[in-house]
Amino acid sequence: MSVTTPTGQGARIRPRERDAIIQSLRAGVVPRAGQQHVQVGRAAEVQALVADTTRIADGGAGSRFVIGEYGSGKTFFLHLIRSIALEKRLVTVHADLSPDRRLHATGGQARSLYAELMRNMATRAKPDGGALASVVERFVTQALTEARDTGQNPQVVIRVRLDALSELTGGYDFADVIAKYWQGHDTGNEQLKIDAVRWLRGEFSTRTDARNALGVRTIVDDASFYDHLKLMSRFVRLAGYDGLLVCLDEMVNLYKLANSQARNANYEQILRILNDSLQGTASGLGFLFGGTPDFLLDTRRGLYSYAALQSRLAENTYATAGLVDYSGPVLRLANLSPEDFYVLLAKLRHVYAAGDPAAYLLPDEALHAYMNHCASRIGDAYFRTPRNTIKGFLDLLAILEQNPGQDWRSLIGAIHIAAETDPDLEPLDDAGDPTSQTAEEQHQKLSASTGGHNFSHTPAVTVTASQLPPDDDELASFRL
Ligand SMILES: Nc1ncnc2c1ncn2[C@@H]1O[C@H](COP(=O)(O)OP(=O)(O)O)[C@@H](O)[C@H]1O
Ligand SMILES: [Mg+2]
Repeated sequence: MSVTTPTGQGARIRPRERDAIIQSLRAGVVPRAGQQHVQVGRAAEVQALVADTTRIADGGAGSRFVIGEYGSGKTFFLHLIRSIALEKRLVTVHADLSPDRRLHATGGQARSLYAELMRNMATRAKPDGGALASVVERFVTQALTEARDTGQNPQVVIRVRLDALSELTGGYDFADVIAKYWQGHDTGNEQLKIDAVRWLRGEFSTRTDARNALGVRTIVDDASFYDHLKLMSRFVRLAGYDGLLVCLDEMVNLYKLANSQARNANYEQILRILNDSLQGTASGLGFLFGGTPDFLLDTRRGLYSYAALQSRLAENTYATAGLVDYSGPVLRLANLSPEDFYVLLAKLRHVYAAGDPAAYLLPDEALHAYMNHCASRIGDAYFRTPRNTIKGFLDLLAILEQNPGQDWRSLIGAIHIAAETDPDLEPLDDAGDPTSQTAEEQHQKLSASTGGHNFSHTPAVTVTASQLPPDDDELASFRL
């Protein structure tokens, strides 16, 4: 069947990318790459943040709070911006906050957040994470090249370069650890290199271990969380990248902290970060925080409960009645519209067909019919919080692909679509319970247990296309 696409895509999509996008969306999670193939709407928001990444790459700073309801697209947006930042030669790190991962703590939770960020460190060449070792390697190789070109001793070149770090808090030990890495590189001591990278990742839990392995007196700990991010942002620039973008999602976990002292200590950390970026004292460092309106606005437990943050984050009072201002630190995600959702369905159809219009499984007419079906089942949530409706649509495509000759008309009416339920709306009191599950892990579990269809406990799932297309051998190695 040959149908022209209303969205004007012409590009083919690589099978690996296609499979990763579809697999993620069907599991109810946001794709880690290739977001541009499905991205719709929010042009002004994207433009504002692209400008931020340019500013960071030019040595500036920036903090943004990406605020939207549960399911409205915060995580998707953060990953989209992250991909764009990678293209601009920024290094990115990202992590979800959780009861075990916070910005401030005394029981190891801030170090744990740091370690998670470092594990997820990505560069353009390594967009899936695990890039820290190669960033360090790159720093060393560049220094070696300079040493060779100028006839200097490599160790001297490295020391001179690392001098830039020593003016920052914790910079001496950081520089020492990099020097140890170089020593390991120079003498073929792999263990020394491994230990240096472990230290940088925040994986040493005691000073004694760090001293024994590397001869340094300090480690990345709860108290030095932010100082180490600043050091890392300086270091990635020394390694030839343009800056560091830090993406922190699920900020609602701070709002859920039952202990007000712990909560305020975390908010104070956010204030430090925000002040540094507003005053321009940080350089080449940007932060993106993803959170719900409650996390921002609640005057009892949200950021607004902390006076200094409320005054800095207050929305522009003129930005009402259709007037917008994308220059402040708070970025409210506008709702997707039915038109956006239509374009999204068309893009999904296009991705599913690996970019080949001749392989579309549905005509345009079916996209409208599917939207009507969703609207009648769950009202306007179908386009405002589209996770389940996206999954339902991909399930429909999977059935059509594997059962040639099936009529889409008879299938659409049978698809069960459940409204989204926000797990964060459950009572807050047990929220202090430590659980290492991130929201994404919960989503994955829930969607696995409900056949990938909804997060509520409605059992009726009519379409059960859980098998993958038979020729999808790339999925065997698929990782989220
Ligand atoms: N701008 C967009 N374009 C295309 N799909 C989107 C967009 N925003 C969100 N989505 C999709 O909507 C669903 C929910 O988005 P998500 O980022 O998980 O929401 P949140 O993090 O706010 O809870 C995901 O399936 C995501 O892929
Ligand atoms: Mg999210």
